Amino acid sequence: MNEIYHIPAMLKETIQGLNIQPDGLYVDVTFGGGGHSRAILDQLSEQGKLYSFDQDLDTLQNVMHQDNWQFVHGNFRYLRNFMDYYGVKQIDGLLADLGVSFHHFDCPERGFSFRFSAPLDMRMNQTGGKTAADILNTYSEEDLARVLHIYGELKNSRQIAKKIVKAREQKAIERTEELVEVVMGRPVGLMDAAPQLLDNGYRELDIPTGAKKDLARLFQALRIEVNDEMGALREMLLAAKDLLKPGGRIVILTYHSLEDRMVKNFLRSGNLEGKIEKDFYGNILSPFKVIEKGMTASEEEVARNPRARSAKLRVAEKIV
Ligand SMILES: C[S@@+](CC[C@H](N)C(=O)[O-])C[C@H]1O[C@@H](n2cnc3c(N)ncnc32)[C@H](O)[C@@H]1O
Repeated sequence: MNEIYHIPAMLKETIQGLNIQPDGLYVDVTFGGGGHSRAILDQLSEQGKLYSFDQDLDTLQNVMHQDNWQFVHGNFRYLRNFMDYYGVKQIDGLLADLGVSFHHFDCPERGFSFRFSAPLDMRMNQTGGKTAADILNTYSEEDLARVLHIYGELKNSRQIAKKIVKAREQKAIERTEELVEVVMGRPVGLMDAAPQLLDNGYRELDIPTGAKKDLARLFQALRIEVNDEMGALREMLLAAKDLLKPGGRIVILTYHSLEDRMVKNFLRSGNLEGKIEKDFYGNILSPFKVIEKGMTASEEEVARNPRARSAKLRVAEKIV
């Protein structure tokens, strides 16, 4: 299939936020299609260096061939360990463009999208770990309800969890259409598949428009749990704080309220609890100066790339 791997969101604003020093050392912890990494490299001299992380091996199809670029196949939660391995003590800037790429949503066999009939996988790192089907078939009703409530902000999380547990007593839930049918309470039809999908053996599901919003939240919740996205973000933020030089920039693009709240609190306070510490005179004691507080994509960009609609850009500078 001739697919667009990803279109980077807020590219110009992100690069501005990084305030790139040509000889500096930078980390892009979410390489994806490489759009942001490419733009960072374009601003670096031969003495500069960029490390780009991704846990998804499919991103190898986007690798660049340049001496001052290093790809790291790994989870960014291990940022500190990888930087130790490469002998890096301090960095001038870090970019995190969180979540999944277009490729994840558009590639039926990865199971991230309810648009296609496919196995419920949703792992960004295909080399191990639990799948969405594992979660659906093994978590207790209470744990399922918690995941759907916290990560999907679904109002009827308890009812959905009950339906899932009841359905799996008859038969394990393995495929996207099975989950959609359990939640909707009725069979779901197939669309006339586009020829390239037929070649691939995948079919498109005919989902009623009214059901799409809640299904998107349900699939988002499962994806966040499968990939422990909040846990990885927490660990990466703490490591980034230690690695950044004074004057170094951290630039983060978030896509849902939960991760955005965590990033906002962290960049304001320097801790995960968001606890603001003050000195004797009432001055805020934070290792960061906030530069950008949640900028969104321009109307023009959203018209061109509707998936940039939910992006929020946050930038901070390390001060101590
Ligand atoms: C929104 S995309 C990044 C797109 C990229 N900025 C571009 O210009 O194409 C997010 C990427 O980060 C990767 N990713 C998400 N969480 C990760 C983690 N904890 N560790 C490593 N990679 C991760 C995903 O596999 C995906 O490729």
